[in-house]
Amino acid sequence: MALEGTVLTTMTEEQPDVSSTLKIAIDGPAGAGKSTVAKLVAKRLGYLYLDTGAMYRAATVLALRKGLSMEEPEIIAEAVAKAKIDLVPSASSDGVPFLKVFLNDEDITSEIRGREVSLLVSPLSTIGSVRDSLVEQQRRLATNGGVVLDGRDIGTVVLPDAEVKIFLTASAAIRAKRRLKEFELQGEEVSFNSVLTEITERDHRDMTREIAPLRKATNAEEVNTDVMSIPEVVDAILLLCKKHSGSFSI
Ligand code: DC
Repeated sequence: MALEGTVLTTMTEEQPDVSSTLKIAIDGPAGAGKSTVAKLVAKRLGYLYLDTGAMYRAATVLALRKGLSMEEPEIIAEAVAKAKIDLVPSASSDGVPFLKVFLNDEDITSEIRGREVSLLVSPLSTIGSVRDSLVEQQRRLATNGGVVLDGRDIGTVVLPDAEVKIFLTASAAIRAKRRLKEFELQGEEVSFNSVLTEITERDHRDMTREIAPLRKATNAEEVNTDVMSIPEVVDAILLLCKKHSGSFSI
């Protein structure tokens, strides 16, 4: 498996006075706003953004295409280890990082957001040997810092040494509303209640699995996006980054 990473340097706003080598971990349940926040922070700092959920989703597409059942975890892990999954930062007109996702050189960026993948990714992510190979790649890409990773286990398992750790939450109803909008944009017809049920079940599975469950790291800041707007969360994270860079001027 290979992952491509390029530090994103396109910035349209003033770059805060922050060290270029921090590791920023953003964890939380589905639909809390992690990727939106992570991308904006990466843009402001010129950091690499890494969507770890996209890696689990790409592995799920692979398992689906090969017709593998979740009852065959070792076969799935072997297929994932052999596959080439690339997250390629692409330029976007507003400078916000956009990751294209490739599976064996095929662009699967849209496919990973489909409903079938969303339903199966959580069971697949409970497979320890799949996690081992993805976590290894994530740590390798984060080695030199200057990174924002979002996921479920970043602050607890992948980067326990991250200087800035955020645990992002929001009420289940608001998160389901956001996901419903995403499905609608993809032309998938689905009711609010089924999205709410799916999201609640997924969170439960992510939080109660044996390996690397979704959990707030002891030294993470908990932030609720029902209460704070996205720009407010981004500013709060940038402030934490400044503190960890030894600069307190805002
Ligand atoms: O963030 P997302 O919804 O794209 O994540 C999809 C699934 O991947 C999520 O249900 C759990 C899993 N995941 C994980 O186990 N660990 C991560 N670091 C990221 C995602």
